[in-house]
Amino acid sequence: MKQVAINRNVIPPMPVVLAGTIVDGKANFMTVGWCSRVNAAPPLIAIGINKKHQTPTGILANEAFSICFPGSEMEQITDYCGVVSGKKVDKSTLFDTFTGELENAPMIEDCPVNLECKLVQTVELPTNYLFIGEIVNAYARADVLENGRPQVEKTKPMILTMPDNRYWQLETSIGRAWKDGLGMKD
Ligand SMILES: Cc1cc2nc3c(=O)[nH]c(=O)nc-3n(C[C@H](O)[C@H](O)[C@H](O)COP(=O)(O)O)c2cc1C
Repeated sequence: MKQVAINRNVIPPMPVVLAGTIVDGKANFMTVGWCSRVNAAPPLIAIGINKKHQTPTGILANEAFSICFPGSEMEQITDYCGVVSGKKVDKSTLFDTFTGELENAPMIEDCPVNLECKLVQTVELPTNYLFIGEIVNAYARADVLENGRPQVEKTKPMILTMPDNRYWQLETSIGRAWKDGLGMKD
């Protein structure tokens, strides 16, 4: 099939997370689509955050942040954290929060999965910081676990597509990773 040139700002579907920080002693949560695991051992995860946001102030000051995975039932409040800035609105009372080992990485009790991260590297890009954090500890709500592992059917992760700016949830698993491709051999 012929390939047609399109706007280069097209972005693949991505999970939606909330990045948690502490600014002036208060928790702040920001919606993030640009988040990816980037190293195996130690476990490193990176987020691309615009320098204009409040969140970099907290991450740079504390060298810590959280990555909280909202379930699809948290769609509205998750979007809210992406349309208002902590520079103008106090987002500290939106969620019941908890902390783990790191004092300045607030996590969200309602989120099915939460990661607390220690900042290990900051890459300064033209408009964004790429914050790379080591996942110090991971937590999950007891009700989403089976044999100690979060079940996607229960965590109901939110997926974002751009540039149509829509949220989705996963429905059907279509195969087994690191397995189905083996059937291609020979
Ligand atoms: C679905 C969604 C995804 C977003 N992803 C990002 C992102 O990956 N990086 C970014 O810098 N801003 C992103 N934003 C914008 C910020 O979340 C938004 O500007 C927020 O108000 C910043 O909060 P803060 O100023 O309290 O840090 C996203 C917004 C939405 C709604």
